Amino acid sequence: MKVLVTGGAGYIGSHTVRELVNLNHEVIVLDSLELGHQELARAAGARKIIQGNTADTALLDNLFDQEQIGAVIHFAAYKNAGESVEKPGKYFTNNVAGTQSLLDAMLRHNVKNFIFSSSCAIFGTPQNVPVSETNNPYHPESPYGESKLMAETVLKWYDVAYGLKSINLRYFNAAGASLDGKLGEDWTVTLNLVPLVMKAALGKTPSVKVFGTDYPTPDGTCIRDYIHVVDLATAHVRALEYLQANNQSNQYNLGTGKGSSVKEVIDTTKRISGRDFKVEEIGRRPGDPVAIWADSTKAERELNWKAQYDLETIIKTAYEWHSAHADGI
Ligand SMILES: NC(=O)c1ccc[n+]([C@@H]2O[C@H](COP(=O)([O-])OP(=O)(O)OC[C@H]3O[C@@H](n4cnc5c(N)ncnc54)[C@H](O)[C@@H]3O)[C@@H](O)[C@H]2O)c1
Repeated sequence: MKVLVTGGAGYIGSHTVRELVNLNHEVIVLDSLELGHQELARAAGARKIIQGNTADTALLDNLFDQEQIGAVIHFAAYKNAGESVEKPGKYFTNNVAGTQSLLDAMLRHNVKNFIFSSSCAIFGTPQNVPVSETNNPYHPESPYGESKLMAETVLKWYDVAYGLKSINLRYFNAAGASLDGKLGEDWTVTLNLVPLVMKAALGKTPSVKVFGTDYPTPDGTCIRDYIHVVDLATAHVRALEYLQANNQSNQYNLGTGKGSSVKEVIDTTKRISGRDFKVEEIGRRPGDPVAIWADSTKAERELNWKAQYDLETIIKTAYEWHSAHADGI
């Protein structure tokens, strides 16, 4: 199938392009390249890389006129929750209006299969863990999380009105790099824990900061569900197959089902890298949930998908990738 991947020059998008290409799909990438890298989309095997924005309706019409797209996988968005609190308009414009612009262009060209990068941020601080699709209310705590929930809402009503079928994939904490070291995350633009720990391990920063060591967890630090980026990429392929087979909208939480603490991430990195580095213990950060991990049994049951890689593999692949790209991509 010919698949349009927006944000396919970014971190998770490029890994997904590669999985699609491995299964003989033909992939067109649309990416503004504001945060992505053409090299990643190229290394992943995209047939065509178009630099452009999802808000550009003329460009989208032209693209859908020229290419017979069968499905769209939509990664293109901003993802910094902290920044979104300072600049909510930036997030609603890009993540919500940008998504709607893309959906409207799809409808104009009768393309009705859509896979959406949603996030566990739609749940905010969960009342129940592990977090399933049904055991917590939607309660985003940042404009970023809200923008993902709003896009999910748009998708729900576009199915009702126009029969556009979508799968919302709510990722937990994406981490790691491809096993062969060809694709990975750009640590110059990310604020995620694993790349920050890698920076400290590789001497690019003097220390890594731990926000809160007095939480009610076994070692006092926050717990998250780190999921390997290749596992996430595989889930998109399964979601595409599900859409083709069932022609039905749905949503899935994607994690490993196992939480790891901040301290575990740091200790595993020290062990695997063989490098010691300074850890600064700082007070709690407002708005950080104590512990959150996924119940992904619905994805296992319905998408025949289960995370294959553990924290060891995440740290090992991330360390190898960042060692080889210490000055960015
Ligand atoms: N990384 C995570 O842990 C995580 C967790 C949950 C959800 N997500 C979501 O997954 C998606 C991909 O995340 P990522 O980590 O690969 O981020 P990323 O920043 O590496 O990739 C996003 C890509 O989209 C592009 N882009 C942004 N807005 C665009 C627009 N309007 N038009 C065209 N291109 C645009 C950027 O240039 C970038 O290449 C995002 O939607 C993000 O919100 C990520």
